[in-house]
Amino acid sequence: MKKQTAAITAVGGYVPEFVLSNKVLETMVETNDEWITSRTGIKERRILKKENQGTSYLAIKAAEDLIAKSGVDPKEIDFVLVATATPDLPVAATAAYVASEIGAVNAFSYDLQAACSSFLFGMSTAASYIESGRYKKVLLIGADKMSSIIDYTDRTTCIIFGDGAGAALFEPNDEGLGLQDEYLRTDGVGRQFLKIDAGGSILPASEETIKNKQHYVYQDGKSVFKFAVSNMADVSALIMDRNNLTHDDVQWLVPHQANKRIINATANRMGLDADKVMINIHRYGNTTSATLPLLLFDYEKQLKKGDNLIFAAFGGGFTWGSIYLKWAYNS
Ligand code: UT7
Repeated sequence: MKKQTAAITAVGGYVPEFVLSNKVLETMVETNDEWITSRTGIKERRILKKENQGTSYLAIKAAEDLIAKSGVDPKEIDFVLVATATPDLPVAATAAYVASEIGAVNAFSYDLQAACSSFLFGMSTAASYIESGRYKKVLLIGADKMSSIIDYTDRTTCIIFGDGAGAALFEPNDEGLGLQDEYLRTDGVGRQFLKIDAGGSILPASEETIKNKQHYVYQDGKSVFKFAVSNMADVSALIMDRNNLTHDDVQWLVPHQANKRIINATANRMGLDADKVMINIHRYGNTTSATLPLLLFDYEKQLKKGDNLIFAAFGGGFTWGSIYLKWAYNS
C-alpha cells in the first residue's frame, strides 16, 4: 500500500502596515543603510503598532487570509499548531486563542517553540499527524511579534527582526505529493549565543532584570552566523543527496530569512541559481517563525504542482534542519 503523504493545500499571510526602514533606523541607533544592506540584505521590516495586540493578532490575520482564499470550513480543521517564539502570554497557548477566534471550534491546538526553526519543525509535526491517518486537516501558523522582545537601542539586533505571520494547511494526498523527507537537528550548546536571559524559570522577572535589559534578545551574531552558514548548507546538501536530487531537479529553495549571506551560501552549496531561491528578507527582515510561510505566501503563484521544494532553517537553541516537499497544486 502506498504511504499516505501530507501536502500543503493552501497558504495565507499577513504583515503589519507600519514599515520600519533602514533610513529610520539610522535616526534611532548608530547604523547606516549601506552597512545593514551589505551585511544582511535587509532594507525594511514591518512592525505591529496596535496597542494590546500580540502574536495572536498576526496569526489570526494570516489564518483568515488562508481561510478566505481556500474556502476551507474552519469547523473541519482538526488541529491548529502555532509556531512562535513570542507567545501572547508565558502560560496559556496562543494557538488555543487563535483556534477559537478563527472558528476552528472542533480543533485542539498548542504552540511549538524552536526559535527560527519553529515553522520547519512544525511542518514535521503537522505532516506526521496527517501521515498517521489520525487527522485530515492541520493548520500550521508561523507567527512572531519580534518587536516585543527587541531593544531598539541595540544596533546589533534591532536592525534584523520584524513582525509577521504565515499559514499553511496540511491535508492527505493520494498522489504521493507533499512532505517527502526531513532531517532535523538540535544542539543545546547554542543557547548561550542567542537567547533571552530573564523571564523564564531560571531568572524570573524582577526590578533588577528590567534594569539590566535582560528581557530583550541577546545575540552573539558572529558565532550564530558561523554555525548557521555551515549547518544550513550541510543539511540542504544532505537532503538532496539522500533523495538523489541534482540542482536540476530542485525548483525552489525556501530558506529561513536571517541573512542574505547565509542564504547565498546555502544556495551555492546546492548548486542553485539565484532565480530558484525564494527571498523576501529585503522587505520583512527576519520574522523568525514566519519567514518560511511568508515565502510561500509571496511565491504561491509561481509554484507548480510537482515542483520540488527544499526548505532549510537555522535558529537559536541551536535548532536547524531541512525538509524536502513536493508542491501539490497550481494556483
Ligand atoms: O535567525 C536566527 C539565527 N540568526 C542568524 O542567523 C544571524 C547570524 N548572524 C548575522 O546575521 C550577522 O552576524 C549579523 C548581521 C548579526 C552581524 O553581521 P557581522 O558581519 O557578523 O558583523 P559583526 O557582528 O562581526 O560586526 C562587525 C562590525 C563591528 O564593529 P567592529 O568591532 O568591527 O568595529 C560591530 O560593532 O560592525 C559593527 N556593527 C554595526 N555597524 C553598523 C554591528 N552592528 C552594526 C550596525 N550598524 N547595525
